[in-house]
Amino acid sequence: MNAAVKGLAVQAPVDVKNPKLIAWVAEMAALCKPERIEWCDGSQEEYDRLCQQLVDAGTFRRLNPAKRPNSYLAWSDPSDVARVEDRTFICSAKKEDAGPTNNWMAPAEMRATLQPLFDGCMKGRTMYVVPFSMGPLGSPIAHIGVELSDSPYVAVNMKIMTRMGKAVYDVLGAEGEFVPCVHTVGAPLEPGQKDVAWPCNKTKYIVHYPETREIWSYGSGYGGNALLGKKCFALRIASNMGRDEGWLAEHMLILGVTNPEGRKYHVAAAFPSACGKTNFSMLVPPKGFEGWKVTTIGDDIAWIKPQPDGTLRAINPEAGYFGVAPGTNYKTNPNCMASLDKDVIFTNVALTDDGDVWWEGMEADAPGKELPAHLTDWQGKDWTPQIARETGAKAAHPNARFTVAATNNPALDDAWDDPKGVKIDAFIFGGRRSTTVPLVTEARNWIEGVYMAATMGSETTAAAAGAQGVVRRDPFAMLPFMGYNMSDYFQHWLTLGDKLQAAGAKLPKIYTTNWFRKGEDGKFVWPGYGENMRVLKWMIDRVEGQGQGAEHVFGVSPRYEDLNWTGLDFTRTQFDKVTSIDKAAWQAELKLHAELFEQLAHRLPSELPATKAAIEQRLAA
Ligand code: GTP
Ligand code: SPV
Ligand code: MN
Repeated sequence: MNAAVKGLAVQAPVDVKNPKLIAWVAEMAALCKPERIEWCDGSQEEYDRLCQQLVDAGTFRRLNPAKRPNSYLAWSDPSDVARVEDRTFICSAKKEDAGPTNNWMAPAEMRATLQPLFDGCMKGRTMYVVPFSMGPLGSPIAHIGVELSDSPYVAVNMKIMTRMGKAVYDVLGAEGEFVPCVHTVGAPLEPGQKDVAWPCNKTKYIVHYPETREIWSYGSGYGGNALLGKKCFALRIASNMGRDEGWLAEHMLILGVTNPEGRKYHVAAAFPSACGKTNFSMLVPPKGFEGWKVTTIGDDIAWIKPQPDGTLRAINPEAGYFGVAPGTNYKTNPNCMASLDKDVIFTNVALTDDGDVWWEGMEADAPGKELPAHLTDWQGKDWTPQIARETGAKAAHPNARFTVAATNNPALDDAWDDPKGVKIDAFIFGGRRSTTVPLVTEARNWIEGVYMAATMGSETTAAAAGAQGVVRRDPFAMLPFMGYNMSDYFQHWLTLGDKLQAAGAKLPKIYTTNWFRKGEDGKFVWPGYGENMRVLKWMIDRVEGQGQGAEHVFGVSPRYEDLNWTGLDFTRTQFDKVTSIDKAAWQAELKLHAELFEQLAHRLPSELPATKAAIEQRLAA
């Protein structure tokens, strides 16, 4: 099949039988004016060829094959290192449907803004047609997208992060629906103009049209700005699909946990960006937890669908991990380190003199915990421990990441690819808070759980551009990823709870956690990482109707004697530091909840302010 539009003949491969897709590619080619179009087939041959092309262009550096087989390192432009939340837009027809937490522009106005930017934006470049499935190919819960991108870096990352390639065209057939995703780095090349290693544009727009389910991304080549299957599709567009169809698209890891008796449970946990989802999803039980096993279903996104019997089943729509590198080592996350042995794309980590990678935190694995004597940092500059001491220069960017297939993970769950998904037994919502919020709390019921999730606060991280370490409300860890009005989303959760209950199901328990309380010395008090198993076990015991705890003003928390401390030296005093509930701090915290509710007042479900009033009363008593 083919379509000719203004000079550039669009010749689709024989496998492509979808006239809508071909017409759209032709229309976008006419607008973006690429020099050529390449329809990706997702083959290994294609991946290797594009990686070689990226090496030749200076975007990729091939790592030492003896140390890191079949792996590459990319350094981005220093201005293009994270998601750009202030340039991300939800362009629903009505402003109130985007809600007060999203940037909004009227669709017609946004289209008029983007038209001149996209006109000729791919000149001198190849437009890659990247067909992908979010979720197992052909599964009834999966959805198809097609990304048009002028970045070969995007094409190879999409091959790892999604089920990408020819088979998608077959599933799509002649009639199938797909989410159209257009991406450009916004750096057209004039004839004879030399390219740069990481093309991008100072101007950036990450745009979603929820009603027509389209994604348009301009000016960035990095992560969630450019790999459009991830945040743009699987969260912002999918949350709209979920609202319309009665399911959930969440910023959650999914893990399986098996107890020594062989009973298996599934937990979905929402932590904000760079707050420990990848780590928790690959947790290795510590000493004292012999016979326990944790397996990964997903590390970032969950699609959760209610079943006729009132249970919830979840799938991971992704096929790979785009994870934070700094802080990862054999102590904090051995499964992750093992996943990174081969077949990895690293972005913005440092290069060692023998052609391997390094990032802050890896010194913990060195024999004497020493820093490397010399590195090339993520900006291509010399780095030595002395330079780091004197200038504070980081060898790896704090939001440096790896892209790797899920199948590299030694702890991958057998059901990770099961189209039916896994049954969810508990939800966790966890922020990064140096004060106030205790280690773990169980909500007494669904509404109080939704309240905890809705009012969650977290200190901001390098995963997004802007100030770091500032506490902001991050409801459900979805603030940057919510595709519609936040208050409507709270209602969606409450309605779902009612429906599940009406179907006669036992609702999943809801927990809130905080691994990040700090002592007067500014250090984390809770050891975290594998030791989080102690908290996970308590939750599973509670799910089984076993674990003990004490009720307080907003839920139930374990007492010191309710956790298993075998193998860890953690005193009652330290425990108090991570679990104490300070009345004055909570009175101040509730004022912040009130501010959030004021901001979200329009269409805010009345259950939430009512829950807040009840907590205030108990706190005052
Ligand atoms: P996104 O991919 O951005 O959505 O983030 P994520 O939630 O998957 O983040 P990830 O697991 O990669 O966490 C990254 C950061 O959290 C690193 O700096 C880790 O060292 C830190 N971290 C993870 N788990 C823990 C923990 O239990 N305790 C402490 N103190 N830090 C943790
Ligand atoms: C996040 O920021 O939550 C991520 C990384 O998972 S990115 O895909 O870049 O959004
Ligand atoms: Mn994420």
